Amino acid sequence: MYPVGFEEARVERGELWLTGPVFTARVQARGPAWRILVFLRPEDAEKGSFAVTNQERRPLAFENGEVTAPGLPPLRLELDPFAFGFGFLRASGLFARELETWRGVERVTLDPLGVKNPTPVTEGLPLGGGYELWLEERPERRYFGLGERTGFLDKKGRRYTHWNTDDVDHEEGTDNLYQSQPFLLAAEDGRALGLVLDETWRTVFDLARSDPEKTTLVTPGPTFDLYLLPGPQPKDVTQKLAELTGRPPLPPLWALGYHQCRYSYPDEAAVRAVAAAFKRRGIPLSAIWLDIDHMDGYRVFTFHPERFPDPKGLAEELARDGVRLVAIVDPAVKKEAGYPVYQEGAAIRAYVEDPRGHEVVGEVWAKPAVWPDFTREGVRDWWAGLHRFYTERGVAGIWNDMNDPSVFAVEGVDGELPGLGKTLPPGALHGKRTHLEVHNVYGQCMSRATYQGLRALAPDRRPFVLTRSGFLGIQRYAWVWTGDNKSYWSHLEMSVPMLLNLGLSGVAFAGADIGGFTEDADPELLLRWTWLGAFYPFMRNHSAKTSRRQEPYAFGEPWTGRIAEAIRFRYRLLPYVYALAEEASATGAPLMRPLFWHFPDEPEAYRVYDQFLFGPALLVAPVTRPGQATRTLYLPRGRWQDWWTGEVHEGPGWTSVPAPLERIPLFLREGFAVPLTEPRVPERAVFEPLAFRVFGETAEGVLYEDEGDGYAPGRRGRLVVEGDRGRLEGPFAGRRVEAFRVLPGGGRRPIPLARDG
Ligand code: GLC
Repeated sequence: MYPVGFEEARVERGELWLTGPVFTARVQARGPAWRILVFLRPEDAEKGSFAVTNQERRPLAFENGEVTAPGLPPLRLELDPFAFGFGFLRASGLFARELETWRGVERVTLDPLGVKNPTPVTEGLPLGGGYELWLEERPERRYFGLGERTGFLDKKGRRYTHWNTDDVDHEEGTDNLYQSQPFLLAAEDGRALGLVLDETWRTVFDLARSDPEKTTLVTPGPTFDLYLLPGPQPKDVTQKLAELTGRPPLPPLWALGYHQCRYSYPDEAAVRAVAAAFKRRGIPLSAIWLDIDHMDGYRVFTFHPERFPDPKGLAEELARDGVRLVAIVDPAVKKEAGYPVYQEGAAIRAYVEDPRGHEVVGEVWAKPAVWPDFTREGVRDWWAGLHRFYTERGVAGIWNDMNDPSVFAVEGVDGELPGLGKTLPPGALHGKRTHLEVHNVYGQCMSRATYQGLRALAPDRRPFVLTRSGFLGIQRYAWVWTGDNKSYWSHLEMSVPMLLNLGLSGVAFAGADIGGFTEDADPELLLRWTWLGAFYPFMRNHSAKTSRRQEPYAFGEPWTGRIAEAIRFRYRLLPYVYALAEEASATGAPLMRPLFWHFPDEPEAYRVYDQFLFGPALLVAPVTRPGQATRTLYLPRGRWQDWWTGEVHEGPGWTSVPAPLERIPLFLREGFAVPLTEPRVPERAVFEPLAFRVFGETAEGVLYEDEGDGYAPGRRGRLVVEGDRGRLEGPFAGRRVEAFRVLPGGGRRPIPLARDG
C-alpha cells in the first residue's frame, strides 16, 4: 500500500500541481466545485469525463496550505510525502473535523473487481491503480444521493457498489441496480456538502458499514478524480451538481402526461384496443409504448411486417386523440448476414471487440448479437442516424433498455462473473478502453446517441428518450425508469426514496413502473400506486408478459373510476408540473424532493422516507400498504392545508389524516398557489381554463407556458396574492384566469384578480 502524499506544490496557469515521491495531483477550481485529480501515469493528467461537462476554470491561489478561488470556500491541504489530507468548507464551519480526518487518499491493492485484497502487493496491480479515500465518521452525519438504490432515504450504514446491473429480482437488500451515480450528498447539522467521485470503474462506497467510524470510497482505476461541491444547504448542492454535470432539457409537454405500456402490445389491433379503451372511459392518455415484440425477430429498427404493417398510419390515427407512440430500442444488434443494420455497423467496425479484434458475440433478446461501442463518436453518429426509421414513421419517443448492458450469454457461455453480473466480458474492448472502465457509461453513451439522433432528425421537436441505464449526467440525454420492479406493496413504498435519491443525484425526471412490472397487481395496489404515480415526474404503467393485465380499466368498477380519477388529477395539475419541469431544466431542481430539501433545519425531515414534496408547494404522503384507511405523516414547520378537506394543520409534528381509497393524502403549503386546469390531454402548454388554488394570506404561484414542444421562447407568469386581492404578472392578457381559496369544510372563496399591463 502506497500512501498518497505530496511535498511540493506549484501554481501554474491558475491550477495547483502537487508532486510527491510516487503520485501527482492536479487541483482545479472547476465551475462550482473543487476538483482533486490524483494519478500516477503522466497521460492521466488530461483525464476526461463522461459525467462532468463544466469546463469553466477559475484561477486559484495557494498559500499557507490553503487553496482559494473566487466563489469557492477555501480548501485546506496538508502536504506530507506520506499522507495527503484535505479539509473543505472550513470557513462555514461544516465538517471542520475533516481538516484532520480527510487524510487518507491511499493507493491500495485491488483485485480487478475492485475488492480490496488483504495481501499487500507492491507491484503488478492489474489496473495500474487503486485508491481509497477515507474519512472519519460522525453519528450526526447522514448520506443521500448514490442514484438508484433500494432501501430507505438515508444511505448510511451500507456498502454501495457502482456497477450497472440488470436485476429483474431486486428487493430491499439488493446493492447495485441499473444506474451508477457515484455521488454523495452528506448532511450534518442542517448543512450539506456534495462529493462526486468521477470514476466510471466499479467503485465502492462503504458508508460506515464495515467500520462505523469510517467511510471509504474505493476505486480500482489508475486515477482518483474527486469533486467537492459546497453547500451550504442541500438545495445548493443539487444546483451545483447540475452546474457540474448538466441540467435536463425541457421535455415536451406530452411526456408529462400518463403513459401506458405493456410487454407487449403485440400488434396494431392491440394498440388500437388500448387507445379505444381509454377514450371510451374518458381517461386521458398521452402515449402508448411498443415493447420488443413490435420488432421483426428482435432486429432493432424494424417493425414486424404482419403485426405492424402500417406504423405510420397507426401513429397518425392515435395522434388525432393526442396519443403518441414510443418504441423500444435495445443496444444489441442481431448478427445476421443480410440484415442491413448489422452490416452497416460491421462495415464501420462499430461493435465491441475482443482483444484479438473479433466482434464479441453474445445473446440477449436477439441472438446471436453484437454490441455497438457507443463510447466512440463515429458509432454514435451512425446510431443516431438509424432513428430516421422511427421518426419517419411518426414515433415520438425512444425507450432505451438492456443498455446496462445486459447480456444473457457470451460466446455461448451462460453465466456471470462474480460481482460483474451478466454483461460483456471485462476485457472486451471499446476502442482502447476495456469494458471494466466503460461498463457504467455504456447506457449513457447509447442514450446520448439516441438524443442526438432525435434532435437532428426532428429539429422542431424536443427529444424524448427513456433509459434504464445511465451514469452521472444521464439527465442531459434521457429520463430514467427504475427497471424491473414487482407488483408488491414494498416496491411501491421503495420507489419513493429511490426516486428521491435519483433526483438528488441529478435525475430530475424519473419514475417507477406503476402497478409493478413482474408479479400480479391487485386493484387496490394499482389504485394506490396510480395515485402515487400522479406525482412521479414520469408517470407510466408497465407490466411484464407473465403478469396479469393492469391497465387502469383492468379490474372493472369501482376500481376503474377511482384509478381514472388519479390519472385525471395528474392532468389537472399539469400547469404546475410543467412549471416544475421548466425549473428543473433551468436549475436542476428535482420535481420530487425529500422534506429536508426545503426544511434543512428539521432533523425529522432527514428521516422521513415515504413522503415527499412535489415542487415547493405540495406535500404527498402515499398509502404504501393494503387496507389502510388512515395515514400518519410528518408535517414540517408552517401551516398545511389538507387538499381534500380544507382542514388546516400546523407543523412541525406528526398527525394522522383519513386516507380513503378515492384519494392520496395531499397538502398545500401555506404561502403557495398551485395552477390547475381541466383534466384532458392539452395540445399546447397554454392552459385553458386556468385556476390557481391558494393557501395563505399572502401567497405566490408560478406558471410557465409555451407551445409544449419545440424551441420557441416560453413565457413565465406569476400570481401574487395579498389578503383578498391577487395580481397576475405575465402572459395572461385576454385569458380567463381564476384564483380561489378552499375553506375548511370544502367551500371555495374566489380571489379578485388584477392584471399587470
Ligand atoms: C426488460 C425491461 C422491461 C421490458 C422487457 C422487455 O425487462 O426492463 O421494461 O418490458 O425487458 O423488453
